Amino acid sequence: MINIEHIREDFPLLKNTKVIYLDNAATTQKPIQVIEAISEFYSKFNANIHRGIYDLSEEATELYEEAHEEVAKFIKARSWEEVIFTRNTTEALNILALSLSKKFIDEGDEIIVTIMDHHSNLLPWFKVAEYTKTKVKVIKFSSRWRLTGSDFENCISERTRVIALPHISNVLGVINDVKSVAKVAHEVGALLVVDGAQSVPHMPVDVRELEIDFLAFSGHKMLGPTGIGVLWGREDILEDLPPVLYGGDMVKSVLLELSTLKLSIEYNDLPWKFEAGTPNIAGGIGLCAAVKYLERIGMNEVHRHERDLLRYTLKRFSELEDKVSILGPLDMHKKSGLLSFNLSSYDPFVVASWLATDNIAVRAGFHCAQPLYKYLGLDNGSVRVSFYIYNTKSEVDALVDSVKRLLGEK
Ligand code: ALA
Repeated sequence: MINIEHIREDFPLLKNTKVIYLDNAATTQKPIQVIEAISEFYSKFNANIHRGIYDLSEEATELYEEAHEEVAKFIKARSWEEVIFTRNTTEALNILALSLSKKFIDEGDEIIVTIMDHHSNLLPWFKVAEYTKTKVKVIKFSSRWRLTGSDFENCISERTRVIALPHISNVLGVINDVKSVAKVAHEVGALLVVDGAQSVPHMPVDVRELEIDFLAFSGHKMLGPTGIGVLWGREDILEDLPPVLYGGDMVKSVLLELSTLKLSIEYNDLPWKFEAGTPNIAGGIGLCAAVKYLERIGMNEVHRHERDLLRYTLKRFSELEDKVSILGPLDMHKKSGLLSFNLSSYDPFVVASWLATDNIAVRAGFHCAQPLYKYLGLDNGSVRVSFYIYNTKSEVDALVDSVKRLLGEK
């Protein structure tokens, strides 16, 4: 069982403010262990990695590499070399789309995305398709909400090279069956790219068990600092793919023949081939501390706690009867700890502003998924509450009380 009081003690912001923080899908608060890991790096170990032969540089290198190892263990990767640090999910997906466009995707091929993708897993594929002259297909969902392999079967063909989808929708909270989609993708030799921004922080994710090819996620949504994210990929595929950023640390050797200006590059080993330039060393170390923190609690516990909160919220929301409409499935086995809703005729921004006056932080709008809202016919977007390990049922009560006051029921 999660001891929430104990956990909340670790979060300076929760102690220093009275905020009821329910915007964890946007970013999470940081425990003292993460803050101290970053501060300790700058106060005791700061140096560039892979460059110096002095102690400080070696210690910084060790810490940064340990961060890759810790993340690899967290998602059950085959090796830490499969873990590439990026700035965030968006950058991870852009790097991947660009790299695949140079080697794996050709004119006439097809890329499949879904209507519930966040812009970060939608725009890169459309942009890549533009200049590779490939076709993009968009999968929609039915009343079942949750996407499974069968939703892709009629759309897939021998020309499909990539299928990209979210593990958990950042709007609907639905947990898609990515394993069955991987099976369908692999039947035609396509690669499965999973946006794990909303799943990796909230539930156990085992990339081998899911049989996926790529996974992207962000550190700041899982207790880590901003500016650090992850692109995980199967080593055999990454070995074959070209980098998209060129410069320091991503090469083993560079030979410039001055008479002919012929340039020969030998790329560095994984993951450095994809981490050009001085990386976010402190960010990686902060992410490592965040992962260790989550591991100590246990991801099954994290998931269970958030679903308990969601179940409780749905129960309390039922008191609002037809004044509330909820987006996404209501069956708990399809849901993560995230809830999007609208209130009667209230604009979502009015609701969020009202809640803000009660010091309740939620997000309103289109949540970087405008095509999804258009598909749902919701011109003003929705309000979204999203939970994490430190949220409590009394915070849910405060939310419902505030909503009831807005609706004039109190
Ligand atoms: N992608 C983040 C969200 O859904 C920012 O809020």
